[in-house]
Amino acid sequence: MPRIVTATPAAILEAIALIKAGEIVALPTETVYGLGANALDGDAVAKIFAAKSRPAVNPLIIHVCDIAMAQEYVEMDARALKVAHHFWAGALTLILPKKKNSGVSDLATAGLETLAVRVPNHKIMQAVIKGAGVPIAAPSANSSGQPSATTPKHVAESLGDNAPFILADGASAVGLESTVLDLTCAVPTILRPGAVTREMLLEVLDEVVSEEAVSAAPKSPGLLLKHYAPSIPMRLRCVDVKRGEALLAFGSTKFMGIEGGGHVKDLPEERFRNLSEEGDLNQAAHNLFTMMRDLDHINHSAIAVMNIPDIGIGIAINERLRRAAKG
Ligand code: TXA
Ligand code: MG
Repeated sequence: MPRIVTATPAAILEAIALIKAGEIVALPTETVYGLGANALDGDAVAKIFAAKSRPAVNPLIIHVCDIAMAQEYVEMDARALKVAHHFWAGALTLILPKKKNSGVSDLATAGLETLAVRVPNHKIMQAVIKGAGVPIAAPSANSSGQPSATTPKHVAESLGDNAPFILADGASAVGLESTVLDLTCAVPTILRPGAVTREMLLEVLDEVVSEEAVSAAPKSPGLLLKHYAPSIPMRLRCVDVKRGEALLAFGSTKFMGIEGGGHVKDLPEERFRNLSEEGDLNQAAHNLFTMMRDLDHINHSAIAVMNIPDIGIGIAINERLRRAAKG
């Protein structure tokens, strides 16, 4: 059984020692839990891929404690520094040219000349990076193809003994993975939407495009793969619930129809979750993966999901839902 260990100072030291020893550790961040290892140690990084059954073509994000540490591994021009100063520490991953002799394992980058870097806005994760003194490669702490884990319990359920040590610090505040922004091209390109929205990025950049809008062949290898898929079908932008379906609601359910009659409020607890009764998109993001897991049950024919407004972090929520529905 995996050990779920509350992040006391002693537990943080144990996590640091494990990272230094080339082991993998599940770590809390503000977005989702990560499965971390020393990014400079190829054997340690290989353990991440094995634990997740992650395809080797899919590169990892490297977590560092600040801009100065990032600059040891990637080239940061004026544009990159401006964005980093504005959004780090936070839920924004930057794709930048990898420095020659960066020392980052080729397995972590899937052999690419670019590197994904992020400074997490999380005290405990920061303490682990500083204590270990190395950049930490960390994908989301879930088996490949499953929704990202946002609680220690979900890490344990998804990875089992493949995540022997879980440094626990409650539910992830944001609940969705970071925004991935490619800064290796002339026009900054969002490869994966997240909590840092295009509108926010446009406050510091003249131009930002979303990859979905510009190309059919994603540059972010991970986005080519099946992802975030519950084991039962998902039906999006629903205005009614069919017989046998579970309902993932957002906001008021007053006008939701139920096949065969009845009210949403009469649905049994195991078939009903509301992402945010108040219609708050940040709260919905925080609850998304947990509630998707709650409703992912063989007894349900599908998960009917109500419409989520396509604004702000709603864009990232809808991207995750579309990919879950495709799976
Ligand atoms: O919030 C997050 O980003 C979490 C926490 C743990 O930091 N991590 C996370 O990692 O979501 P992961 O591995 O699940 O997703 C990383 C994404 C993948 O889609 C991957 O293909 C992409 O980033 N990526 C990594 N390196 C890249 C690169 N050099 N160029 C383009 N995309 C890259
Ligand atoms: Mg992931």
